[in-house]
Amino acid sequence: MARIVAGIGSSHVPAIGAAIDNGKTEEPYWKRIFSGFEKSQAWMRETKPDVAIVVYNDHASAFSVEMIPTFALGCAAEFPPADEGWGPRPVPVVEGHPALASHIAQSVILDEFDLTICNKMEVDHGMTVPMNLLFGKVAKNSHWPCPVIPLAVNVVMYPPPTGHRCYMLGKAIRKAVESYPEDLKVVIFGTGGLSHQISGPRAGLINSKWDKSFLDNLSKAPQKLAKIPHVDYMREAGAEGIEMVMWLIMRGALDDKVDEVYRFYTVPASNTAVGHIILENRKRGGKAARKGKPATAKHKRAAARVKPAQVRGR
Ligand code: DHB
Ligand code: FE
Repeated sequence: MARIVAGIGSSHVPAIGAAIDNGKTEEPYWKRIFSGFEKSQAWMRETKPDVAIVVYNDHASAFSVEMIPTFALGCAAEFPPADEGWGPRPVPVVEGHPALASHIAQSVILDEFDLTICNKMEVDHGMTVPMNLLFGKVAKNSHWPCPVIPLAVNVVMYPPPTGHRCYMLGKAIRKAVESYPEDLKVVIFGTGGLSHQISGPRAGLINSKWDKSFLDNLSKAPQKLAKIPHVDYMREAGAEGIEMVMWLIMRGALDDKVDEVYRFYTVPASNTAVGHIILENRKRGGKAARKGKPATAKHKRAAARVKPAQVRGR
């Protein structure tokens, strides 16, 4: 059975991609940001996922304003980097996992979430920047460390999906993954945010208090976040802060109670507050289980609270 072992939240600022591509990561401004992802890259090397699902948003790169799917699942074998105005980023083509992606499409659509199936799609900084932050720099003629299933979410044209819809979609994705027969270790990314506003009179807005509270609730009380209306994101986190709803898809795909294994927050990168979190599932997929080590007392207590029916149902 495939299983989701962890969720990763990460911002996606395009200038971070430009800093990587132009060899600027050691400059003090950028070092402050990249050093916050060193532990995460070590965690990723140790976790070695078989597949990553990356929930991200397209910025009118693959989908123009003529056609904007609310949720678009990449079922293709590969996804080339998009040209965002200064040429495609020099990163490898993203290799997909068509079999698992089609299985997720079938399971989730039959569960009444109407995804758009994309058999051809280019991916922009919304996807490749978080991948670089977690996987490190990967040469253009090389390969990303694992296949990736992109899930594009509309947060660029009103109305984006609600946080609640995103959270429930995460749960449906988890069910889909866990009904896939092959043993695959899957991680899911929620990307975008945190607070930022790029244009208009409030351009430059950052709200660290809101961001930190979002990260706290994401870890411990995600149901609270699922109730936040769009207008609150806009008011508190800026117009582009609405990207944060995508993190709720990742969170919905995890256990109700998770272990927060890492968090990083810094302000700013370009116009944006950079937030990052790694949340591990406790049951089956936790660190101890993955390494075959005896579970800690904390893990054992968590496992004891799970009713057998719940285990069978998953
Ligand atoms: C910036 C942030 C974004 O999320 C984006 O899509 C484009 C630009 C920025 O901070 O400059
Ligand atoms: Fe963005």
